[in-house]
Amino acid sequence: MSTVAEKPAPAAGMPIEGFNVLDPKVQGCPYPYYQTLRAQCPVFQSPQTGMYYVTKYDDIRFIKKHPELFSSDMTHSSRGGQKEIFNRHDEILRTYGWAHVQVLQRTDPPAHNRWRQYIDRTFTASRVNEMKPYVDEMVNELIDAFIDRGECEFVSEFCIPLPCKVIADQLGLPRDQYLRLKAWSDAMLMPGGLMATDQQIEQCAWTELDAQHFFYKVFEDRRKQPRNDIMSVLVNTRFEGEAPMSMHELQNMMHQLITGGNETTTSAIAHGLWNLLKNPQEMAKLRADRKLIKNFVEETLRYETPVLGLFRQATRDVELNGTTIPKDSIVFMAYGSANRDEEKFDDGETFDVSRRNAGAQIAFGMGTHFCPGAMLARREMISAFEILLDRTDDIRLARPLPEHTHEPSIFLHQLRELPITFKKR
Ligand code: HEM
Repeated sequence: MSTVAEKPAPAAGMPIEGFNVLDPKVQGCPYPYYQTLRAQCPVFQSPQTGMYYVTKYDDIRFIKKHPELFSSDMTHSSRGGQKEIFNRHDEILRTYGWAHVQVLQRTDPPAHNRWRQYIDRTFTASRVNEMKPYVDEMVNELIDAFIDRGECEFVSEFCIPLPCKVIADQLGLPRDQYLRLKAWSDAMLMPGGLMATDQQIEQCAWTELDAQHFFYKVFEDRRKQPRNDIMSVLVNTRFEGEAPMSMHELQNMMHQLITGGNETTTSAIAHGLWNLLKNPQEMAKLRADRKLIKNFVEETLRYETPVLGLFRQATRDVELNGTTIPKDSIVFMAYGSANRDEEKFDDGETFDVSRRNAGAQIAFGMGTHFCPGAMLARREMISAFEILLDRTDDIRLARPLPEHTHEPSIFLHQLRELPITFKKR
Protein backbone atom coordinates (compact mmCIF):
# COMPACT_ATOMS: atom_id res chain seq x y z
CA MET A 1 0.00 0.00 0.00
CA SER A 2 1.33 3.42 -0.91
CA THR A 3 2.05 5.75 2.01
CA VAL A 4 2.12 8.82 -0.26
CA ALA A 5 -1.19 10.65 -0.78
CA GLU A 6 -2.05 10.15 -4.43
CA LYS A 7 -4.12 12.49 -6.57
CA PRO A 8 -7.30 10.58 -7.49
CA ALA A 9 -7.52 9.47 -11.13
CA PRO A 10 -9.84 11.68 -13.21
CA ALA A 11 -13.41 10.40 -13.39
CA ALA A 12 -13.98 8.13 -16.37
CA GLY A 13 -16.69 10.29 -17.90
CA MET A 14 -19.31 8.67 -20.16
CA PRO A 15 -19.05 6.89 -23.50
CA ILE A 16 -19.19 9.39 -26.38
CA GLU A 17 -21.95 7.36 -28.06
CA GLY A 18 -24.29 8.35 -25.20
CA PHE A 19 -23.79 12.06 -25.96
CA ASN A 20 -27.11 12.70 -27.69
CA VAL A 21 -27.48 16.48 -27.55
CA LEU A 22 -31.23 16.15 -28.13
CA ASP A 23 -31.74 13.94 -25.04
CA PRO A 24 -33.23 16.07 -22.19
CA LYS A 25 -31.43 13.91 -19.63
CA VAL A 26 -28.07 14.69 -21.27
CA GLN A 27 -29.03 18.38 -21.43
CA GLY A 28 -29.77 18.38 -17.67
CA CYS A 29 -26.29 17.06 -16.87
CA PRO A 30 -23.93 17.07 -19.88
CA TYR A 31 -20.75 17.31 -17.78
CA PRO A 32 -19.60 13.65 -17.73
CA TYR A 33 -19.91 13.67 -21.54
CA TYR A 34 -18.04 16.94 -21.85
CA GLN A 35 -15.27 15.37 -19.78
CA THR A 36 -14.97 12.47 -22.22
CA LEU A 37 -15.08 14.78 -25.24
CA ARG A 38 -12.32 17.00 -23.86
CA ALA A 39 -10.16 13.91 -23.28
CA GLN A 40 -10.93 11.98 -26.45
CA CYS A 41 -12.43 14.21 -29.12
CA PRO A 42 -12.30 17.91 -28.22
CA VAL A 43 -13.92 18.96 -31.50
CA PHE A 44 -16.81 16.56 -31.96
CA GLN A 45 -19.46 16.44 -34.67
CA SER A 46 -22.86 15.67 -33.15
CA PRO A 47 -24.57 12.94 -35.24
CA GLN A 48 -28.00 14.29 -34.26
CA THR A 49 -27.53 17.91 -35.39
CA GLY A 50 -24.37 17.88 -37.53
CA MET A 51 -22.93 20.68 -35.37
CA TYR A 52 -19.31 20.70 -34.22
CA TYR A 53 -19.04 20.76 -30.43
CA VAL A 54 -15.92 22.63 -29.30
CA THR A 55 -15.26 21.71 -25.67
CA LYS A 56 -11.80 23.03 -24.69
CA TYR A 57 -11.27 26.47 -23.11
CA ASP A 58 -8.38 27.48 -25.38
CA ASP A 59 -10.16 26.35 -28.56
CA ILE A 60 -13.16 28.53 -27.71
CA ARG A 61 -10.82 31.42 -27.05
CA PHE A 62 -9.35 30.85 -30.53
CA ILE A 63 -12.83 30.98 -32.10
CA LYS A 64 -13.65 34.18 -30.26
CA LYS A 65 -10.44 35.80 -31.50
CA HIS A 66 -11.17 34.92 -35.12
CA PRO A 67 -14.58 36.21 -36.23
CA GLU A 68 -13.26 36.18 -39.81
CA LEU A 69 -13.15 32.34 -39.53
CA PHE A 70 -16.13 31.82 -37.22
CA SER A 71 -18.91 34.26 -37.97
CA SER A 72 -21.82 35.35 -35.77
CA ASP A 73 -23.86 36.10 -38.90
CA MET A 74 -25.64 32.83 -39.51
CA THR A 75 -28.27 34.07 -41.96
CA HIS A 76 -27.55 31.22 -44.32
CA SER A 77 -27.36 28.35 -41.84
CA SER A 78 -29.70 25.43 -42.40
CA ARG A 79 -32.30 24.61 -39.76
CA GLY A 80 -32.09 20.84 -39.71
CA GLY A 81 -35.26 18.84 -40.20
CA GLN A 82 -37.63 21.68 -39.22
CA LYS A 83 -36.91 24.03 -42.11
CA GLU A 84 -40.55 24.44 -43.08
CA ILE A 85 -41.81 25.45 -39.68
CA PHE A 86 -38.92 27.88 -39.22
CA ASN A 87 -39.89 29.44 -42.56
CA ARG A 88 -43.47 29.69 -41.30
CA HIS A 89 -42.18 31.36 -38.10
CA ASP A 90 -40.31 33.94 -40.22
CA GLU A 91 -43.32 34.47 -42.44
CA ILE A 92 -45.62 35.24 -39.49
CA LEU A 93 -43.24 37.92 -38.22
CA ARG A 94 -42.62 39.31 -41.73
CA THR A 95 -46.34 39.52 -42.54
CA TYR A 96 -47.81 40.75 -39.29
CA GLY A 97 -44.84 42.32 -37.53
CA TRP A 98 -41.11 42.80 -38.08
CA ALA A 99 -38.90 40.08 -39.57
CA HIS A 100 -35.62 39.20 -37.87
CA VAL A 101 -32.68 41.25 -39.11
CA GLN A 102 -29.03 40.90 -38.14
CA VAL A 103 -28.09 43.25 -35.31
CA LEU A 104 -25.58 43.11 -32.43
CA GLN A 105 -25.18 39.44 -31.50
CA ARG A 106 -25.68 38.32 -35.08
CA THR A 107 -23.02 40.59 -36.59
CA ASP A 108 -19.22 40.58 -36.87
CA PRO A 109 -16.77 43.43 -36.44
CA PRO A 110 -16.56 46.10 -37.75
CA ALA A 111 -20.37 46.22 -38.27
CA HIS A 112 -20.84 44.92 -34.71
CA ASN A 113 -19.25 48.10 -33.24
CA ARG A 114 -22.19 50.16 -34.45
CA TRP A 115 -24.67 48.17 -32.33
CA ARG A 116 -22.44 47.97 -29.27
CA GLN A 117 -22.17 51.75 -28.97
CA TYR A 118 -25.89 51.93 -28.15
CA ILE A 119 -25.54 49.75 -25.06
CA ASP A 120 -21.91 49.88 -23.93
CA ARG A 121 -22.54 52.76 -21.57
CA THR A 122 -25.74 51.29 -20.17
CA PHE A 123 -24.53 48.89 -17.48
CA THR A 124 -21.05 50.14 -16.65
CA ALA A 125 -19.49 49.27 -13.27
CA SER A 126 -20.24 52.71 -11.80
CA ARG A 127 -23.84 52.76 -13.04
CA VAL A 128 -24.45 49.24 -11.67
CA ASN A 129 -22.85 50.19 -8.31
CA GLU A 130 -25.36 53.02 -8.07
CA MET A 131 -28.13 50.48 -8.61
CA LYS A 132 -27.26 48.50 -5.44
CA PRO A 133 -29.92 50.06 -3.13
CA TYR A 134 -32.56 49.59 -5.83
CA VAL A 135 -31.64 45.91 -6.43
CA ASP A 136 -31.44 45.26 -2.65
CA GLU A 137 -34.92 46.71 -2.23
CA MET A 138 -36.30 44.49 -4.97
CA VAL A 139 -34.66 41.41 -3.40
CA ASN A 140 -36.11 42.28 0.03
CA GLU A 141 -39.60 42.78 -1.43
CA LEU A 142 -39.52 39.34 -3.06
CA ILE A 143 -38.31 37.66 0.13
CA ASP A 144 -40.95 39.54 2.21
CA ALA A 145 -43.62 37.79 0.16
CA PHE A 146 -42.60 34.27 1.33
CA ILE A 147 -40.44 34.68 4.45
CA ASP A 148 -43.25 33.98 6.96
CA ARG A 149 -44.24 30.75 5.23
CA GLY A 150 -40.90 29.05 5.90
CA GLU A 151 -41.01 27.59 2.40
CA CYS A 152 -41.20 28.67 -1.23
CA GLU A 153 -40.71 27.53 -4.81
CA PHE A 154 -37.49 29.46 -5.31
CA VAL A 155 -37.46 29.56 -9.13
CA SER A 156 -40.95 31.00 -9.70
CA GLU A 157 -41.08 33.15 -6.55
CA PHE A 158 -37.59 34.61 -6.71
CA CYS A 159 -35.28 33.66 -9.60
CA ILE A 160 -37.78 34.58 -12.33
CA PRO A 161 -39.26 37.83 -10.95
CA LEU A 162 -35.95 39.41 -9.86
CA PRO A 163 -34.20 39.75 -13.26
CA CYS A 164 -37.50 40.15 -15.07
CA LYS A 165 -38.60 43.14 -13.00
CA VAL A 166 -35.12 44.69 -13.09
CA ILE A 167 -34.84 44.50 -16.88
CA ALA A 168 -38.43 45.76 -17.26
CA ASP A 169 -37.55 48.86 -15.19
CA GLN A 170 -34.32 49.45 -17.08
CA LEU A 171 -35.84 49.11 -20.53
CA GLY A 172 -38.92 51.14 -19.62
CA LEU A 173 -41.56 48.38 -19.69
CA PRO A 174 -44.27 47.96 -17.03
CA ARG A 175 -42.88 45.96 -14.11
CA ASP A 176 -46.30 44.61 -13.09
CA GLN A 177 -46.48 42.74 -16.41
CA TYR A 178 -43.30 40.79 -15.73
CA LEU A 179 -44.93 37.42 -16.36
CA ARG A 180 -45.95 38.55 -19.84
CA LEU A 181 -42.37 39.69 -20.39
CA LYS A 182 -41.09 36.32 -19.27
CA ALA A 183 -43.46 34.58 -21.70
CA TRP A 184 -42.18 36.81 -24.55
CA SER A 185 -38.58 36.09 -23.66
CA ASP A 186 -39.15 32.31 -23.43
CA ALA A 187 -40.96 32.32 -26.79
CA MET A 188 -38.04 34.17 -28.40
CA LEU A 189 -35.54 31.65 -27.04
CA MET A 190 -37.42 28.37 -27.46
CA PRO A 191 -36.98 27.81 -31.23
CA GLY A 192 -33.16 28.15 -30.94
CA GLY A 193 -33.10 25.35 -28.36
CA LEU A 194 -33.96 22.86 -31.16
CA MET A 195 -36.31 20.90 -28.88
CA ALA A 196 -39.66 22.51 -29.71
CA THR A 197 -42.42 20.85 -31.72
CA ASP A 198 -43.70 22.48 -34.92
CA GLN A 199 -46.81 23.59 -33.07
CA GLN A 200 -44.75 25.21 -30.32
CA ILE A 201 -42.54 27.01 -32.85
CA GLU A 202 -45.58 28.50 -34.57
CA GLN A 203 -47.01 29.57 -31.21
CA CYS A 204 -43.66 31.21 -30.38
CA ALA A 205 -44.02 33.40 -33.48
CA TRP A 206 -47.47 34.59 -32.39
CA THR A 207 -46.22 35.31 -28.87
CA GLU A 208 -43.23 37.23 -30.25
CA LEU A 209 -45.65 39.20 -32.39
CA ASP A 210 -47.54 40.25 -29.27
CA ALA A 211 -44.23 41.53 -27.85
CA GLN A 212 -43.35 43.38 -31.06
CA HIS A 213 -46.63 45.30 -31.17
CA PHE A 214 -46.29 46.18 -27.51
CA PHE A 215 -42.70 47.43 -28.10
CA TYR A 216 -43.83 49.39 -31.16
CA LYS A 217 -46.27 51.45 -29.08
CA VAL A 218 -43.67 52.10 -26.36
CA PHE A 219 -41.06 53.17 -28.97
CA GLU A 220 -43.53 55.59 -30.57
CA ASP A 221 -44.36 57.01 -27.15
CA ARG A 222 -40.65 57.45 -26.24
CA ARG A 223 -39.93 59.07 -29.58
CA LYS A 224 -42.34 61.86 -28.62
CA GLN A 225 -41.71 61.85 -24.87
CA PRO A 226 -38.29 60.47 -23.96
CA ARG A 227 -37.81 59.12 -20.44
CA ASN A 228 -34.81 57.93 -18.47
CA ASP A 229 -34.90 54.39 -19.90
CA ILE A 230 -33.11 52.24 -22.48
CA MET A 231 -35.97 52.24 -24.99
CA SER A 232 -35.75 56.04 -25.12
CA VAL A 233 -32.00 55.80 -25.73
CA LEU A 234 -32.43 53.25 -28.51
CA VAL A 235 -35.11 55.19 -30.36
CA ASN A 236 -33.67 58.70 -29.95
CA THR A 237 -29.88 58.32 -30.16
CA ARG A 238 -28.29 59.64 -33.36
CA PHE A 239 -24.63 58.85 -33.91
CA GLU A 240 -22.79 61.21 -36.23
CA GLY A 241 -22.96 60.13 -39.87
CA GLU A 242 -25.33 57.23 -39.12
CA ALA A 243 -29.02 56.75 -39.80
CA PRO A 244 -31.30 56.25 -36.77
CA MET A 245 -32.33 52.66 -36.15
CA SER A 246 -35.23 51.36 -38.21
CA MET A 247 -38.21 49.70 -36.46
CA HIS A 248 -36.87 46.32 -37.63
CA GLU A 249 -33.54 47.04 -35.97
CA LEU A 250 -35.16 48.40 -32.81
CA GLN A 251 -37.31 45.27 -32.52
CA ASN A 252 -34.30 43.01 -32.86
CA MET A 253 -32.27 44.96 -30.30
CA MET A 254 -35.19 44.50 -27.89
CA HIS A 255 -35.26 40.79 -28.69
CA GLN A 256 -31.64 40.49 -27.56
CA LEU A 257 -31.97 42.70 -24.48
CA ILE A 258 -35.11 40.96 -23.23
CA THR A 259 -33.76 37.43 -23.78
CA GLY A 260 -30.27 38.37 -22.52
CA GLY A 261 -31.59 39.93 -19.33
CA ASN A 262 -34.00 37.21 -18.24
CA GLU A 263 -33.47 33.46 -18.32
CA THR A 264 -29.67 33.70 -18.00
CA THR A 265 -29.81 35.43 -14.63
CA THR A 266 -32.74 33.29 -13.46
CA SER A 267 -30.66 30.19 -14.16
CA ALA A 268 -27.58 31.63 -12.45
CA ILE A 269 -29.42 32.42 -9.21
CA ALA A 270 -31.31 29.12 -9.17
CA HIS A 271 -28.15 27.07 -9.75
CA GLY A 272 -26.31 29.15 -7.13
CA LEU A 273 -28.70 27.95 -4.44
CA TRP A 274 -28.84 24.43 -5.87
CA ASN A 275 -25.04 24.20 -5.67
CA LEU A 276 -25.11 25.29 -2.03
CA LEU A 277 -27.82 22.76 -1.17
CA LYS A 278 -25.81 19.97 -2.77
CA ASN A 279 -22.61 21.11 -1.03
CA PRO A 280 -23.51 21.99 2.60
CA GLN A 281 -19.84 22.48 3.49
CA GLU A 282 -19.68 25.30 0.90
CA MET A 283 -22.87 26.83 2.32
CA ALA A 284 -21.23 26.78 5.77
CA LYS A 285 -18.09 28.47 4.38
CA LEU A 286 -20.22 31.21 2.83
CA ARG A 287 -22.23 31.77 5.99
CA ALA A 288 -19.01 32.00 8.00
CA ASP A 289 -17.32 34.45 5.63
CA ARG A 290 -19.57 36.70 3.58
CA LYS A 291 -16.58 38.16 1.76
CA LEU A 292 -16.62 34.93 -0.25
CA ILE A 293 -19.91 35.81 -1.95
CA LYS A 294 -18.30 37.51 -4.95
CA ASN A 295 -16.13 34.47 -5.58
CA PHE A 296 -19.10 32.15 -5.01
CA VAL A 297 -20.93 34.02 -7.79
CA GLU A 298 -18.02 33.41 -10.20
CA GLU A 299 -17.82 29.76 -9.14
CA THR A 300 -21.56 29.30 -9.71
CA LEU A 301 -21.27 30.76 -13.21
CA ARG A 302 -18.33 28.44 -13.87
CA TYR A 303 -19.82 25.28 -12.41
CA GLU A 304 -23.38 25.52 -13.75
CA THR A 305 -23.00 27.82 -16.75
CA PRO A 306 -26.42 29.35 -17.62
CA VAL A 307 -25.76 29.45 -21.37
CA LEU A 308 -24.31 25.99 -22.04
CA GLY A 309 -22.99 27.19 -25.38
CA LEU A 310 -23.56 29.44 -28.41
CA PHE A 311 -23.19 29.14 -32.14
CA ARG A 312 -20.88 30.36 -34.88
CA GLN A 313 -20.63 29.48 -38.58
CA ALA A 314 -17.32 28.52 -40.25
CA THR A 315 -16.61 30.93 -43.12
CA ARG A 316 -14.14 28.47 -44.75
CA ASP A 317 -12.63 25.05 -44.02
CA VAL A 318 -10.82 25.49 -40.69
CA GLU A 319 -8.63 23.09 -38.77
CA LEU A 320 -9.18 23.25 -35.02
CA ASN A 321 -7.37 20.99 -32.54
CA GLY A 322 -6.80 18.28 -35.16
CA THR A 323 -10.29 18.31 -36.73
CA THR A 324 -11.18 19.98 -40.02
CA ILE A 325 -14.43 21.90 -39.75
CA PRO A 326 -15.89 22.33 -43.25
CA LYS A 327 -17.03 25.75 -44.54
CA ASP A 328 -20.60 26.69 -43.50
CA SER A 329 -20.67 24.21 -40.60
CA ILE A 330 -22.30 25.35 -37.39
CA VAL A 331 -19.94 25.34 -34.44
CA PHE A 332 -21.20 25.10 -30.86
CA MET A 333 -18.87 26.78 -28.37
CA ALA A 334 -19.59 24.70 -25.27
CA TYR A 335 -18.99 27.28 -22.51
CA GLY A 336 -20.30 24.79 -19.93
CA SER A 337 -17.48 22.42 -20.89
CA ALA A 338 -14.73 25.06 -21.15
CA ASN A 339 -15.62 26.14 -17.62
CA ARG A 340 -14.73 22.69 -16.31
CA ASP A 341 -11.67 22.19 -18.49
CA GLU A 342 -9.11 20.50 -16.23
CA GLU A 343 -6.27 22.26 -18.04
CA LYS A 344 -7.69 25.59 -16.90
CA PHE A 345 -9.41 24.71 -13.60
CA ASP A 346 -7.80 22.25 -11.16
CA ASP A 347 -10.34 19.67 -10.02
CA GLY A 348 -12.90 21.42 -12.23
CA GLU A 349 -15.71 18.98 -11.40
CA THR A 350 -15.71 20.18 -7.77
CA PHE A 351 -17.78 23.16 -6.62
CA ASP A 352 -15.48 25.28 -4.45
CA VAL A 353 -16.55 28.76 -3.33
CA SER A 354 -12.96 29.67 -2.50
CA ARG A 355 -11.52 28.55 -5.86
CA ARG A 356 -8.56 30.79 -6.69
CA ASN A 357 -9.28 31.35 -10.40
CA ALA A 358 -13.10 31.11 -10.47
CA GLY A 359 -13.14 34.54 -12.16
CA ALA A 360 -11.53 33.03 -15.27
CA GLN A 361 -14.91 31.46 -16.15
CA ILE A 362 -16.32 32.37 -19.56
CA ALA A 363 -20.05 32.17 -18.82
CA PHE A 364 -20.42 35.70 -20.26
CA GLY A 365 -18.40 34.83 -23.37
CA MET A 366 -15.26 36.81 -24.21
CA GLY A 367 -14.00 39.29 -26.79
CA THR A 368 -16.16 41.65 -28.82
CA HIS A 369 -19.48 39.97 -27.95
CA PHE A 370 -18.71 39.82 -24.22
CA CYS A 371 -22.01 40.15 -22.38
CA PRO A 372 -22.92 43.82 -21.81
CA GLY A 373 -25.20 42.75 -18.91
CA ALA A 374 -22.46 40.94 -16.94
CA MET A 375 -22.11 43.64 -14.26
CA LEU A 376 -25.85 43.83 -13.78
CA ALA A 377 -26.22 40.03 -13.53
CA ARG A 378 -23.41 39.89 -10.93
CA ARG A 379 -25.08 42.69 -8.94
CA GLU A 380 -28.37 40.79 -8.87
CA MET A 381 -26.64 37.57 -7.80
CA ILE A 382 -24.60 39.22 -5.04
CA SER A 383 -27.60 41.10 -3.60
CA ALA A 384 -29.75 37.96 -3.83
CA PHE A 385 -27.38 35.77 -1.83
CA GLU A 386 -26.24 38.41 0.69
CA ILE A 387 -29.84 39.13 1.66
CA LEU A 388 -31.11 35.54 1.43
CA LEU A 389 -28.39 34.32 3.80
CA ASP A 390 -29.03 37.27 6.15
CA ARG A 391 -32.73 36.59 6.39
CA THR A 392 -32.89 32.79 6.42
CA ASP A 393 -31.19 29.83 8.08
CA ASP A 394 -31.16 26.09 7.52
CA ILE A 395 -32.28 26.18 3.87
CA ARG A 396 -33.16 22.70 2.60
CA LEU A 397 -34.62 21.10 -0.49
CA ALA A 398 -38.31 20.49 0.33
CA ARG A 399 -38.42 17.24 -1.69
CA PRO A 400 -36.22 15.41 -4.19
CA LEU A 401 -36.30 16.89 -7.70
CA PRO A 402 -37.82 14.79 -10.50
CA GLU A 403 -35.63 12.99 -13.07
CA HIS A 404 -35.88 15.76 -15.69
CA THR A 405 -34.70 18.78 -13.76
CA HIS A 406 -34.22 21.16 -16.74
CA GLU A 407 -36.34 22.54 -19.57
CA PRO A 408 -35.35 20.90 -22.87
CA SER A 409 -32.88 23.06 -24.83
CA ILE A 410 -29.53 22.43 -26.43
CA PHE A 411 -28.07 25.76 -25.32
CA LEU A 412 -29.91 26.97 -22.21
CA HIS A 413 -29.73 25.46 -18.73
CA GLN A 414 -33.13 26.25 -17.29
CA LEU A 415 -33.82 24.67 -13.88
CA ARG A 416 -37.54 23.92 -13.72
CA GLU A 417 -38.11 24.24 -9.97
CA LEU A 418 -36.36 24.45 -6.63
CA PRO A 419 -38.82 23.89 -3.75
CA ILE A 420 -37.16 24.83 -0.46
CA THR A 421 -37.88 25.09 3.26
CA PHE A 422 -35.97 27.40 5.64
CA LYS A 423 -36.04 29.04 9.06
CA LYS A 424 -36.68 32.76 9.27
CA ARG A 425 -33.84 34.63 11.04
C1 HEM B 1 -25.90 35.38 -15.65
C2 HEM B 1 -26.42 36.14 -16.59
C3 HEM B 1 -25.96 36.21 -18.02
C4 HEM B 1 -25.24 35.29 -18.75
C5 HEM B 1 -24.71 33.94 -18.31
C6 HEM B 1 -25.08 35.85 -20.08
C7 HEM B 1 -24.39 35.24 -21.12
C8 HEM B 1 -24.03 35.87 -22.30
C9 HEM B 1 -23.11 35.35 -23.28
C10 HEM B 1 -22.39 34.00 -23.17
C11 HEM B 1 -23.01 36.25 -24.28
C12 HEM B 1 -22.05 36.17 -25.46
C13 HEM B 1 -22.71 35.94 -26.78
C14 HEM B 1 -21.76 35.56 -27.90
O1 HEM B 1 -20.61 35.23 -27.69
O2 HEM B 1 -22.25 35.61 -29.04
C15 HEM B 1 -23.91 37.33 -23.97
C16 HEM B 1 -24.17 38.41 -24.77
C17 HEM B 1 -25.18 39.31 -24.53
N1 HEM B 1 -25.89 39.49 -23.34
FE1 HEM B 1 -25.70 38.37 -21.69
N2 HEM B 1 -25.71 37.07 -20.12
C18 HEM B 1 -26.24 37.33 -18.89
C19 HEM B 1 -26.93 38.48 -18.50
C20 HEM B 1 -27.32 39.48 -19.35
C21 HEM B 1 -28.14 40.61 -19.01
C22 HEM B 1 -28.62 40.94 -17.59
C23 HEM B 1 -28.36 41.30 -20.16
C24 HEM B 1 -29.20 42.54 -20.36
C25 HEM B 1 -28.95 43.63 -19.93
C26 HEM B 1 -27.66 40.63 -21.24
C27 HEM B 1 -27.65 41.01 -22.57
C28 HEM B 1 -26.79 40.50 -23.52
C29 HEM B 1 -26.68 41.02 -24.88
C30 HEM B 1 -27.51 42.16 -25.47
C31 HEM B 1 -25.68 40.27 -25.52
C32 HEM B 1 -25.17 40.43 -26.95
C33 HEM B 1 -23.86 41.21 -26.95
C34 HEM B 1 -23.13 41.26 -28.28
O3 HEM B 1 -23.36 40.39 -29.13
O4 HEM B 1 -22.32 42.16 -28.45
N3 HEM B 1 -27.06 39.52 -20.71
N4 HEM B 1 -24.50 37.09 -22.74
